[in-house]
Amino acid sequence: MPEISVTDIDVPAERLPRHVAFIMDGNGRWAKAHGLPRAQGHLRGVQTVIDTVENGFRLGVKTITLYAFSVENWNRPRAEIDALMALLKTFLGEYLPRLIENKIRLRTIGDLSSLPAETADAIREACASTAGFSETELVVALNYSSRAEIVAAAKNLAAAAVAGTLDPEKIDWDTLSKFLYTAEISDPDLIIRTSGEMRLSNFLMLQGAYSELYFCDALWPDFSLEDFKNALRHYASRERRFGKTSEQLAH
Ligand code: FPP
Repeated sequence: MPEISVTDIDVPAERLPRHVAFIMDGNGRWAKAHGLPRAQGHLRGVQTVIDTVENGFRLGVKTITLYAFSVENWNRPRAEIDALMALLKTFLGEYLPRLIENKIRLRTIGDLSSLPAETADAIREACASTAGFSETELVVALNYSSRAEIVAAAKNLAAAAVAGTLDPEKIDWDTLSKFLYTAEISDPDLIIRTSGEMRLSNFLMLQGAYSELYFCDALWPDFSLEDFKNALRHYASRERRFGKTSEQLAH
């Protein structure tokens, strides 16, 4: 495991993002470029997940979110879906002791009910066994999409209004955000997408309203510590205004 810490990056700790979210793209292209089946790209991608998560927490990031499986990914060939589900289960089984050792809380966002029962059970168990940790958290987006999240939230808001426990007039962003999968999770400060694609692909569309976006050309299996540091340096150089003017921010 790399022994790095916040002092190993030329960025002051206060300019580091608290929460970094990743759109891990390019596993398929990586496999193709190496003459391998797509599933091998995902397998190699898991190693990048492990390295990136450990590097991120060692560098001082508190929350890391990974877009592991989108609602739209169900449209992929059955064999690839099965390979991804099996990989997730294996990853959790093998990585859980590390999460516990490092006091990292595991959470998920998305609808777990459509995942294969053994994958969903493994995930729920891993989440339960790390639920007591609060300092750092790893959030895995599974069967997740922003539109599905909003639809689910709208249904629950409407049901609460019909039941008389919620006054529709009083609904504001604070109310609505409590109905999202991310109710207890901070908004991402930085969203990184690999493989040169510049899209959000239905990922944290509302939570990312003020996030800095960083796109890098590396395919996910090739995403390195140096790529990560470059993204953090980029973030540190940005001025986040949240709709205010730079003059207002200066005061
Ligand atoms: C996108 O690459 C990647 C995915 C759809 C899956 C990401 C999953 C992993 C990295 C492994 C499992 C995750 C965890 C958290 C252990 P792509 O297949 O769309 O690549 P392409 O655009 O080059 O075809």
